[in-house]
Amino acid sequence: MADRDAVTSASLLRLKERGEKITCVTSYDASFTCLLEQAGVEVLLVGDSLGMVVQGHDSTLPVRMADMIYHASCVARAGQFALRIVDMPFMSYSSVDRALGNAARLMRAGAHMVKLEGGRGIADSVRALTEHGIPVCAHLGLTPQSVHQLGGYRVQGRDAESAQRLLEDARLLEKSGASVLVLECIPADLARQVSQCLRIPSIGIGAGPDCDGQVLVLYDLLGITPGKRPSFSRNFLEDSDDIPGALRAFVEAVKAGRFPAPQHSFS
Ligand code: KIV
Repeated sequence: MADRDAVTSASLLRLKERGEKITCVTSYDASFTCLLEQAGVEVLLVGDSLGMVVQGHDSTLPVRMADMIYHASCVARAGQFALRIVDMPFMSYSSVDRALGNAARLMRAGAHMVKLEGGRGIADSVRALTEHGIPVCAHLGLTPQSVHQLGGYRVQGRDAESAQRLLEDARLLEKSGASVLVLECIPADLARQVSQCLRIPSIGIGAGPDCDGQVLVLYDLLGITPGKRPSFSRNFLEDSDDIPGALRAFVEAVKAGRFPAPQHSFS
C-alpha cells in the first residue's frame, strides 16, 4: 500500500482526460476509511448525509460544523491515499466570510477539499475559497440542504428551463474555480451534457453512467440504510462474501462501466 500515490485534484483531472471512471464513497470513521482505501476508492466524501445515516435525523439540516469537524478528523486520522472532500453543513456558507472561516476549520480538521451545495448563488464563495487556496467541490441537481425549497427529494432538471439553468450554473462554478462537481438525481442525458462541456470531473449519484465518476452513500452500498434503499443505489453486499468484497465490487463495477445500470438512472 505504501507505494500508492496520494489522489489529488490533478490526478482526478488526469483520470477524466483518459476516460477512467472515478470512484467515490462516503466515509465517516477511521475503520471504513481504511477498508475503502484498501478497496482502491479514490475519493472519500465526509458527507453531511451522516446526519441521516449516522445521527438518525430525517434530513441533513440539523448537522453542525462541530459534527463535520469530528467526522473529518476521524477520517483524516486513518486516511493515507484518497482525496478527502468534506461537506460544509447547512448555513455554514451563507456569506463569503462565513464560508471562508468555516472552510478553514474543516481544512484544519484534515479536509483536502470542501463541498458546497448550490448554483450561481455560491459562485462568489467558490471564487473566494479557491483564491485562498481551498479547493472546492460544487454540488448541483438535488441539493439535500434545500429539500424544503425543492418540495422533497425529487429528480431535478427535468424540464428544458431548469436543465438550461443547471448547465449554466455548472459552467459558472467551473469558471469560479471549482475542481469537482457532484451531480445528484438529474436525468442521465443532462448529466452527460454537463460532463462533456466541463473540463473538471463530474461525480454522479442518480445521474446516469456518463458522469466522470460515481459516488454512493456507504450505507446504501452495503444495504444497511434504514428504510427504503434509493432506486439509484445498489446493495453490493448482496453478491459479495464480506464488506471488503462489496467495496471492491463497487470499484470494479464503476471502473468497468457496469454501475450505474439503466435501472439506477433517470431519463
Ligand atoms: O452528503 C452526502 O453524502 C452527499 C452525497 C449524497 C453526494 O452529498
